[in-house]
Amino acid sequence: MARILILGGYGFTGRLLARHLLEQSEAQIILAGRSLEKAQVYAEQLNSTFKGERVSSLYVDASSKKTLLEALKNVDMLLVAAPTTQYADIVIHAALESEVDYLDVQLEAKKYALLNSLATEIKHAGRCFITEAGFHPGLPAAMVHNAALHLERMDSAIMACYLNIGRTPYSEAMDELMEFFRHYQAQVFKGDGWTRPGSFDSRKVDFGGEVGVRKCYSMFLEELRSLPEMYPTLQELGFFVSETHWIVDWIIFPLIFAGLKIAPRRATSRLGKILWWSMKTFSKPPYLVSLKIEAKGEKYQKPVTFESFIFHADGYELTAIPVVACLLQYLDGTVRRPGLWMMGHLVEPLRFYNDMEKMGVKISSTTI
Ligand SMILES: NC(=O)c1ccc[n+]([C@@H]2O[C@H](COP(=O)([O-])OP(=O)(O)OC[C@H]3O[C@@H](n4cnc5c(N)ncnc54)[C@H](OP(=O)(O)O)[C@@H]3O)[C@@H](O)[C@H]2O)c1
Repeated sequence: MARILILGGYGFTGRLLARHLLEQSEAQIILAGRSLEKAQVYAEQLNSTFKGERVSSLYVDASSKKTLLEALKNVDMLLVAAPTTQYADIVIHAALESEVDYLDVQLEAKKYALLNSLATEIKHAGRCFITEAGFHPGLPAAMVHNAALHLERMDSAIMACYLNIGRTPYSEAMDELMEFFRHYQAQVFKGDGWTRPGSFDSRKVDFGGEVGVRKCYSMFLEELRSLPEMYPTLQELGFFVSETHWIVDWIIFPLIFAGLKIAPRRATSRLGKILWWSMKTFSKPPYLVSLKIEAKGEKYQKPVTFESFIFHADGYELTAIPVVACLLQYLDGTVRRPGLWMMGHLVEPLRFYNDMEKMGVKISSTTI
């Protein structure tokens, strides 16, 4: 049976990854982090719920290659669910040296650039490295591939995300989000090319139900870059994120972007805390995460629109579930290929959607 070490295995995302993996597969799980006690407590909880004593615990500090190399002996995959992109170099090289496969859910441009620079080495080593996994990054590319299965020709694919996590406790991952904002890119694909990374696009999107119509702003994700080449008929492609509260949108975000420009290193942590505080203070229900794609094109020589929603009340569940749905395809060998892959491009979309639904994600799709 595959042995998967989850770095950050008792964090918000890591706990759910462990639980869904135990429910959906026969994998053995090692929970790792800088608190052996917290890892042990959660491992005991899981072992009392799931048969077979499949969960163990280990002390690992991502800043220490020695602890990583020791922990990765007799492991098949390193699953990174910790906000440790500052140690990406150490973690990725430890995985390569230990000859294990790798998956991360992190959101950060430098980590992707590093992985990309090692893509040939990863492939030659016969390792399968999966990155940009989760819901965002992660789901947008998978949503485009799924839409393509419902159209014979795809002319446009516009995605939008409503993200309102309410009173979620503070996580160190806010620092990573600040790093993402520091390098924020907002390009969308129009006609025959991408707009400028600094030029924001906006549009109103109807999320239906309690959320309704929201103004959304463009956000570029690395997984979008190759889609126009994969679907050459695409004339328009973009990912948009919904407005939140006016105080957050018009006071806090400008403050954050200015702060990150003036004092990028010193201010990161403080600005992350301000954003977390403002979101928990000003956000109003509904607290949920919803992603939508509207893809236009042609089927049976007629113009059609394919519309699909992916929804969960808990943003951490919507991060963990797609990763586990991808891992199910990895564990049975369907998508385990040597090389560097982005989750949204690697998965087989129909099975991926079915498995996410089985794990509690709500999905609805219509073709008009
Ligand atoms: N792709 C997506 O859609 C998506 C969505 C949400 C979050 N994320 C990403 O998911 C990751 C985890 O976020 P989260 O909110 O779940 O974080 P979290 O709840 O703060 O959990 C972090 C976990 O990582 C461990 N950790 C932190 N620093 C470590 C280190 N140096 N060495 C070893 N373990 C360490 C923590 O334990 P100790 O502090 O005890 O070591 C804890 O178990 C972040 O990278 C975040 O950006 C992705």
